[in-house]
Order: sequence, then structure tokens, then C-alpha cells
Amino acid sequence: MSESHSIHNKSIALAESAQALSHTLSVDWRLLPYDIQTNRAHVAGLKRCGTLSAAIADSITQSLDRLMNDYRAGNLTHEGCSDEDVHSYVERRVIADIGDNGKRMHTGKSRNDQVMTDSRLYLKDHIQAIGSELQAVLRALGELAEQHTRTIFPGFTHFQPAQPIVFAHHVMAYMTMLQRDYDRLMQCYDRTDCCPLGAGAIAGTNYPIDREWVATQLGFSRVSTNSMDAVADRDFMIEFVSVSAIVMGHISRLCEEIVLWASPLIGFIHVGDAFTTGSSLMPQKRNPDIAELIRGKSARVLGHSVTMHHLVKALPLTYNRDLQEDKPPIYDTVDTVWQSLAALADMIPTITVQQAAIQAAVTVGHL
Ligand code: ARG
Repeated sequence: MSESHSIHNKSIALAESAQALSHTLSVDWRLLPYDIQTNRAHVAGLKRCGTLSAAIADSITQSLDRLMNDYRAGNLTHEGCSDEDVHSYVERRVIADIGDNGKRMHTGKSRNDQVMTDSRLYLKDHIQAIGSELQAVLRALGELAEQHTRTIFPGFTHFQPAQPIVFAHHVMAYMTMLQRDYDRLMQCYDRTDCCPLGAGAIAGTNYPIDREWVATQLGFSRVSTNSMDAVADRDFMIEFVSVSAIVMGHISRLCEEIVLWASPLIGFIHVGDAFTTGSSLMPQKRNPDIAELIRGKSARVLGHSVTMHHLVKALPLTYNRDLQEDKPPIYDTVDTVWQSLAALADMIPTITVQQAAIQAAVTVGHL
């Protein structure tokens, strides 16, 4: 029979200012369904190797299932909870539900391997979601290119008219970039798809848990091979924000061209009303705000990538509390890239090419 290894093992509370600095429940709340999943698989692993009796394991599992149902029904909130983080919240809820046996859920694991398991599950889901939006943008660009395989368009170098091209050629340059980004994203998915559970705090666990089996329960394709690296490593996150910064850089370039082309000074394209705004003073204006915002948001994501690189570069092995700061940049990157791609995929089909302006432009300069 295992001993209790509850997360809640400290008798003296942190100072209020220290709590304010370190508590993250409202931030890592989005890990909740993943934390429940991780705990469920871990408890199944403990039951399978005989560390937990079937009765205790089943009672914990049922409690976790009730919590998941409450979460899905929208009945859970972090408002007014004083838990340090999502892991403490889940454990407290299970203990409140089934009593002290709930503490056995934490047998043979640490929050250090747990938070990395949750985070990898979270990122795997969201890399897939971002990948789908990237494909939606590629489809929209593909349709635009298809309409303009014979539309003669000015090709620029130095923003000077250089050689005539067809508009499809220009559009497909962006498709080529974004296809590379998609490949990069899927490579990042592959490196994220690795289960650290069993690494414990730093040096593994004494319980004879079948790590491969637990990893399979969670949908991971493999397990981590070095427990110290498993809890210290954030390079899958650095890779994700870096790939995201490249995506945002590419769509920011595209949006910059949309802004220029949509200006009455150039007039090559018209952007649909649902993606432009008027000015209160000059309601006849058609400001391409959405393209401008995507361009602006690329700065945020580039900032997050710098943050992630700095966070890790001088940390001694293994886990340090600094690493908790990985969450805001990762979450904001997920939200920003997803939203930007979704808006871009919707905006592209509203773009109409203005033939008269283009025909006039291809007679200028050395074209
Ligand atoms: N909230 C913590 C984080 O996100 C969980 C890990 C805490 N580990 C610890 N040894 N204090 O990093």
C-alpha cells in the first residue's frame, strides 16, 4: 500500500505578497481538462502495477470523472479559489469529494512531471487546431490564385515595378511559405508528442509503473528517456513559439501587402466590408484594420519567442520555479496565432482584384 504524497503538505502558508506573485490558478486554468486526464491515466497505471488497490483507484477515477463532467457542463470556476495552481485545485477537489484516499492520487509523481505532461497534451491539441487554420488559409489562397492564373500583375523588387508576373505567382509565393510553416509545425508536434510522466521530481519513481502503457492511455507515441531532461526541458515550447513567430512573420508580410494594395494610392485590391472599418470623422474611408492588426500581433508573438528563449537559457538543471513563467507566452501565442489565421482565412475570400488599377500599373516603369 502506498503512502500519501499530497501536494498539500505545507503547514505554514506563504505571505500574501508571495502568494500574489506565485499563484497561477487563473492562468493555468486552461490545463484543467488535461490535468484531470493525466491524473486519470496515472491512477490507472498505479492500479495496474498493484501500487493502488482497485477500490481506491476506482474511487479516485470516479471522482475525477465527476470533476470532468462538471467542467464540461461549465459548472467549475477558479473565482474565489485560493489554490496555488491547477494541480492543487484538482487534488483539493478530489480529496473534498472522497476523503483522504484522494491524496494517493499523487503517489509516485511530482508536479514537475505532471505539469509537463499536461502542457504537452495541451500543446498537442492546440498545434493541431493551429495547423487546421493554417490549412484554411492555404485553401483560401489557393482559390484566389486559381482565379488569377492569367491576371498580369506588376512584380516588384525594392518596391519598384520590375517584371510582369501573373497574380497567381505572387499569391503562391505565400502558399509556399505557409506550406513550409505547416511542415515545421508538424515537426514541432512530433517532438511535443512525448510523455514525461514517471520522471517524478527529477530522478524517476520507485513504483513499478509501466510508463509506456500510461503514455499510450494519454495518446502519446513515446516516453521521455532522461528524467532530468523531462522536467527541465522546455525546448518543445521554444520551438512552438519560434515556429509561430515565423508564421506570424509570413502572414504579417502578406497583410502589409494587403494594406498597401488596398490603399486608394495603389488600389490593386478591394477588401470586403466585413474586414474594414470607417473612421468616425471620415466614414467613407475603408481602413484595413484586420490586416493591420495581424501585422501588429506578429510583434507580440516575436516577443513571446524572445521571452521563452531567455527564460531557459541560464537555468541550472532541473526544474526551477522560473519555468512556471512559460505559461503566459505559450497561451498568448496559441490564442494570437489561432485568431490571426482564422481572421485571415475569412478575409482572403473577400478580396477582389481591381483590374483597371493593375492594367494601369503594368505599363509603368520598366514593365
Ligand atoms: N505550477 C508549477 C509550474 O507551472 C507546477 C510545478 C511546481 N513544482 C514545484 N516544484 N514547485 O511550474
